[in-house]
Amino acid sequence: MIENVENQMNTLVEEINYSRATKLFATLSGGKRLRAKLVLKIEEENNEAARLGAIIELIHAASLLHDDVIDDAELRRGVKSVNATEDSKTAIMLGDILYSKAFTTLTEFDPKIAHRVSAAVTALSVGEMQDVEMGRTFNDDENLYLDMINNKTASLIEASCASAALLCGKDEKAYGVYGKNLGLAFQIIDDILDIVSDEKTLGKPALNDFVEGKCTLPYIYLYHDLNDEDKQRLVSCHAKTLSSEDSSWIKTQMDNYKSVERSYVLARQLSDEALGAVEGEVELQGIIENMMKRDF
Ligand code: FPP
Ligand code: MG
Repeated sequence: MIENVENQMNTLVEEINYSRATKLFATLSGGKRLRAKLVLKIEEENNEAARLGAIIELIHAASLLHDDVIDDAELRRGVKSVNATEDSKTAIMLGDILYSKAFTTLTEFDPKIAHRVSAAVTALSVGEMQDVEMGRTFNDDENLYLDMINNKTASLIEASCASAALLCGKDEKAYGVYGKNLGLAFQIIDDILDIVSDEKTLGKPALNDFVEGKCTLPYIYLYHDLNDEDKQRLVSCHAKTLSSEDSSWIKTQMDNYKSVERSYVLARQLSDEALGAVEGEVELQGIIENMMKRDF
């Protein structure tokens, strides 16, 4: 049960024995706990699985604390980020405390499992840096984008599934393929929602990714469909606050060229690949279908 994961996370944080960290940790909004849920679905719902899920969720929480500093984000899952309520230094240090505690606890596990998870955190960190670097100029390269989201998002989801499989003697490779493709599709859907959802649903302005410099898949597809003059207009809008005229121009062009629908098609293909890797696993397949339908 996911409550077991929450309890294990709280226990691990209490073990750090530093009340400031415990208090700040309690203010974080937990989110969907997707990675821990995957571990619990792949392994039996026992204490060992919950502990592995807790470790991975602590790493994920730490990465988001750092990401909000890097992105200058005021909100995380509808609540004020730690860098907003406290300051950036505190957010970074809390992240350091959480991920180092997670790594200490990871040493209790088989070295193969510890390696699988810790190597994913290196990939995660590389992905974050790629994301920031790619945001400095307009990126129109689909493969670069896919490599970046593979590192930034899919790596830890892939490692969650593969390490859970290792824990219970299942096929590490097949579950890894499931996790990787789920992660890629998840990020593409996230990037689509930034374009199609409204500000109220997102908790941040629509098209915010592009304003922040992130050329996600629909922008890459659109760029290649536009004529030279419109290509220039799109590039000139990159990484700037958009006027309402520019926002509606981008949305109209995306409608014309079906950039969002084409991105959704790729997410669907990746999801199908994930489904194919875990045939007969109804619950894991359900996670994919729910993820494809999500609207927030
Ligand atoms: C969210 O991206 C960010 C990530 C999924 C990874 C962040 C990774 C690091 C900061 C590396 C450091 C790792 C540790 C363990 C400290 P996003 O900005 O696209 O998504 P968002 O809209 O949820 O912020
Ligand atoms: Mg961010």
